[in-house]
Amino acid sequence: MSSLRRTTRTDGEGMHLGIFMPNCSNAYSISTYKLVPDDWTFESNLAVTRVAEEVGFDFLFPVSRWRGFGGECNYLGNSLETMTWASALLAHTTRIGIFSTVHVPVFHPLVVAKMGATLDHIGRGRWGINIVSGWCKGEFQMMGLDILDHDERYRRTEQFIECVTGLWREKPGTFEYESEWYEIRGGYVSPQPPVQPPIVNAGTSDAARDLVAKHCDWSFMCPPTLEIAAEIAADVKARARRLGRSVRCVAAVQALWADRAEDAETEREKTVAGADPVAIQNWAGELGIESGSFDDTPLDAYAFGAGALPVVGTRETVAETLRDLYEVGIDGVLFCFHDFLNDTRRVGDEIVPLLREIGIAREPALRASERASTA
Ligand SMILES: Cc1cc2nc3c(=O)[nH]c(=O)nc-3n(C[C@H](O)[C@H](O)[C@H](O)COP(=O)(O)O)c2cc1C
Repeated sequence: MSSLRRTTRTDGEGMHLGIFMPNCSNAYSISTYKLVPDDWTFESNLAVTRVAEEVGFDFLFPVSRWRGFGGECNYLGNSLETMTWASALLAHTTRIGIFSTVHVPVFHPLVVAKMGATLDHIGRGRWGINIVSGWCKGEFQMMGLDILDHDERYRRTEQFIECVTGLWREKPGTFEYESEWYEIRGGYVSPQPPVQPPIVNAGTSDAARDLVAKHCDWSFMCPPTLEIAAEIAADVKARARRLGRSVRCVAAVQALWADRAEDAETEREKTVAGADPVAIQNWAGELGIESGSFDDTPLDAYAFGAGALPVVGTRETVAETLRDLYEVGIDGVLFCFHDFLNDTRRVGDEIVPLLREIGIAREPALRASERASTA
């Protein structure tokens, strides 16, 4: 038994545990160094999914990309499209939540509402959607699509969400919508989803925070520090409260832990030493310049975890960081790993028992860990 301080937060429901899945190559270190060979294949995603469900993770989350970012590693150059990816994983699972990510400029909202309703039927209410405005010009230019100015993109995203949720809620055949971007007459989506799917947005700019407060259930972020996570969570939740809504927040963390903290640190250093400067420039340069949201992220954090909060040390370091995030208003963690399959299992074996001690483990993980400890 270790002696970790229990959480002092009383208004939460435990820390939701998620995985930023390896549905893309080089997920998610912009580095040529790999602890284990890179594996973005469906077989690998399915293997991670099965372990995640078994050890009590709450949700799986993909990245959506249409092309890679060059450099020596061609960062995210292979990727599995996330609607079709989720469809197969939902069919192979029974409990865990699974998200897809869509880029607003690429789809018509009625098509997304239809595909989403289908996915939610396949998963019997376990599917969710991350609706992103898009920022990578190269992806959209390839399709002959223009990219709008930053805040205009969010205005379009707001209209997109209004269409999708309207089609999911209103009687099929009755949804009417007319705006600058979309016109829907007698919008018909049937069947509708069995459960209203949770909506995520993963931006943290001023425009994104307003959108999340008004229309989303979850705000996902890559906070460079605990303090920034605290500021974003407090602000997004306050904006939602002012509208009579509530929003939960998830922070992406790049977790690397070993029995001896020095060993984890050595691995981190090897990953940073293998930084792929061209891919970092192509990815972070454009994203950072576009939004300003990554201005505080040091270069090493891109090489190590593409901007996710680095958490390096022992299992206690990971558990205590999760507690600290929880106490500043973060409701869920999106784990990025260096060895997805093994680390997913290790969260169940090594981290969840500590979360139980701290008082932030949630029901599925608690049950799985109790089963394991009495086996
Ligand atoms: C956890 C997380 C996941 C994201 N996933 C994607 C994605 O799959 N595709 C994409 O184009 N952008 C993705 N983004 C980028 C965001 O959608 C957004 O463009 C970026 O955070 C900048 O937004 P902002 O300027 O509003 O802060 C992701 C961001 C975060 C934090």
